[in-house]
Amino acid sequence: MATIIAGIGSSHVPAIGAALDNGKTEEPYWKRVFSGFEKSQEWMRATKPDVAIIVYNDHASAFSVEMIPTFALGCAAEFPPADEGWGPRPVPVVKGHPALASHIAQSVILDEFDLTICNKMEVDHGMTVPMNLLFGKIDKNGHWPCPVVPLAVNVVMYPPPTGHRCYMLGKAIRKAVESYPDNLRVVIFGTGGLSHQISGPRAGLINSKWDKNFLDNLSKNPKKLAQIPHIDYMREAGAEGIEMVMWLIMRGALDDKVDEVYRFYTVPASNTAVGHIILENHRRRGKSGGKAKHTAIKYKRAAARAKPTIIQG
Ligand SMILES: [Fe+2]
Repeated sequence: MATIIAGIGSSHVPAIGAALDNGKTEEPYWKRVFSGFEKSQEWMRATKPDVAIIVYNDHASAFSVEMIPTFALGCAAEFPPADEGWGPRPVPVVKGHPALASHIAQSVILDEFDLTICNKMEVDHGMTVPMNLLFGKIDKNGHWPCPVVPLAVNVVMYPPPTGHRCYMLGKAIRKAVESYPDNLRVVIFGTGGLSHQISGPRAGLINSKWDKNFLDNLSKNPKKLAQIPHIDYMREAGAEGIEMVMWLIMRGALDDKVDEVYRFYTVPASNTAVGHIILENHRRRGKSGGKAKHTAIKYKRAAARAKPTIIQG
């Protein structure tokens, strides 16, 4: 049986990808951002998932304003990086997991969540930037350490799905994963956010109080977050802050009670707040459960030693 062992929340700011691709990671402005992901990469190397489900949004790369699926699941064998206007990012082609993806599609659609099945899809910074942040910098001739099942969510044109719908979809994805016959250890990413607005009179808006409250509730009280209406995201977190509903898909796929093993928050990166969190499931199943628990304990101790666990740039 496959098991979701952990959830990862991460911003997917495009400028982070540009900083990586153009060798700027050691510049003080960017070092502040990248240093917050060093522990996460250590965690990922220790955890060694078999597959990652990555929830992200497409930024008019694979889809355009002519056609925007609410939930689009990538069932292909591979997903090339998209040309976002200045050529594809110099990162490897993302290998998919068609068998698991098709299984998720069947289970979730029969549970009445209407996914769009994508058998061919390019992926943009929304997915590849969090992959770099968690897996490290990998050039285009290398290989990502595990296959990925992409799930693209519409948060670019009104109406996006509600937070509650996203949270419940996460639960359906978990059910699907747990009915997959192979012993796979799966991590799920929720990406986007945190607070930001890229245009209009409030361009540059960042609301750290809102962001930290969101991270606290994501860890301890996600059902409260699932009730937040779109208008509150728009008012408090900016027009693009609505991306945060995607984190609720990740959270819905986890146990009600989780171990928060790492958190990082800094402002700004470009004009965006950067947030990152790693949550591990309490319940462990399968032959590698002990290892996952060990990872949580190890990182909790590391976090306790390195107070404060919230890193504010
Ligand atoms: Fe985005």
